Amino acid sequence: MRKICVIGTGYVGLVTGTCFADLGNLVTCVDIKEEKITKLKAGEMPIYEPGLEEMVRRNTQAGRLRFTTSYEEGLKDAEFVFIAVNTPMGSEGEADLSYVRSAAQLIAEVMDHPLIIVNKSTVPIGTGDWVAEIISRHQPQPIEFAVVSNPEFLREGSAVHDFMYPDRIVLGSLNREAAEKVAQLYLSLRAPIMITDLRTAEMIKYASNAYLANRISFINEIASICEALGADVKEVAVGMGYDKRIGSSFLEAGVGYGGSCFPKDVSALAHMASIHGCHPQLLRTVMEINRDQRRRVIQKLRDLLGTLDCKTIGVLGLAFKPNTDDMREAPSVEIIHLLQNEGAHIQAYDPVAMDRARQILSGVIFCKDAYEVAQGCDALLIVTEWNEFKHLDMGWIKQAMRQPILIDGRNIYDPETMKALGFVYRGVGRGY
Ligand code: UGA
Repeated sequence: MRKICVIGTGYVGLVTGTCFADLGNLVTCVDIKEEKITKLKAGEMPIYEPGLEEMVRRNTQAGRLRFTTSYEEGLKDAEFVFIAVNTPMGSEGEADLSYVRSAAQLIAEVMDHPLIIVNKSTVPIGTGDWVAEIISRHQPQPIEFAVVSNPEFLREGSAVHDFMYPDRIVLGSLNREAAEKVAQLYLSLRAPIMITDLRTAEMIKYASNAYLANRISFINEIASICEALGADVKEVAVGMGYDKRIGSSFLEAGVGYGGSCFPKDVSALAHMASIHGCHPQLLRTVMEINRDQRRRVIQKLRDLLGTLDCKTIGVLGLAFKPNTDDMREAPSVEIIHLLQNEGAHIQAYDPVAMDRARQILSGVIFCKDAYEVAQGCDALLIVTEWNEFKHLDMGWIKQAMRQPILIDGRNIYDPETMKALGFVYRGVGRGY
């Protein structure tokens, strides 16, 4: 049984800590937010993540998982400390490292035995070296330590599954022995383990997220061309995906990517490139196309409704993607703001993100379900592809609307079926 401390109880930290406990380790999760820790101790999840609550309960009861606000308690006898604090986007598009800095300082001040410090947060290239410097500088007396970069690739909404069934484990360190010790923690997952240097490991994370964002913007650009030329992007993506060199994932056209990772990481990589004299043209275009995807929705509504002033628009789905209550950089927020700027009234519904949405959006009527949203609408807009929206009684919905305009921002409906029901249907990249 290995003793592990995880700093930060956000998506990455909480899932990492809980899964390591589930693999039989003794884990203490530390967070400076008292309220979060109190809730976790009471078995209440600060986030919505399928399967997590049950796993936290089971491991807490088994005595393998604990929560505290105290670094002393967390680090006591720990062999590994994982830093999994958030790195939000700074004002210039760069990654804001203040939480990483304070975690490193506190670790240094408190550690009283040799430690392997593992960085899981997505941090700019070179941060591992910087963390090592901070630790050395803040230690009251020199104690041995090693820094290992171990980027996380889990997705919100399937985080527990992604942790347990990873495609690969990436470890980067100048200290091979330390990286090998971290590798031991993952052996039972039977995934390929790659050990490299610190900076390369950090870059693998950015390059992976930027590439996936690039695929989304690519297919969104193809979608716009499909609309102009009368092809169907969904079928195009299927046809492309059969090519093993291309593969079928991350080729779903829609209102663009959101969330706490892609927007921030593409921007941070572009920022790093620029300040080092590179010209990240492709990354800039990826971001530009993503911004345009939201605006295209508004344009479609304008084309069909004329002015949007005083029109009622129903919005289905607010979270940045299904199976999460996360509203960070959710396309819904920008789309709703753009609609409100044109004078539209918004009624909206999301299966789990309503509480978070209420804190961010004003002037929106929040409805109890999709059917209530549809009532009296001039147009209905699908922003998040929750499963429950795929099985609605669309005939009923059409009757309830003032005008039968359906803008399917996630291509979840069959255009022909919707047209047969009497909808004026517009998907993304589906020639009509
Ligand atoms: C992403 C990566 O997929 C993870 O590997 C990574 O660990 C994580 O960021 C991170 O850096 O922490 P996540 O942001 O949870 O995970 O969500 P994704 O499932 O990747 O979706 C991101 C956005 O892209 C969503 O808004 C989704 O709707 C959009 N998307 C995804 C598309 O528009 N089309 C697609 O084909 C796929």
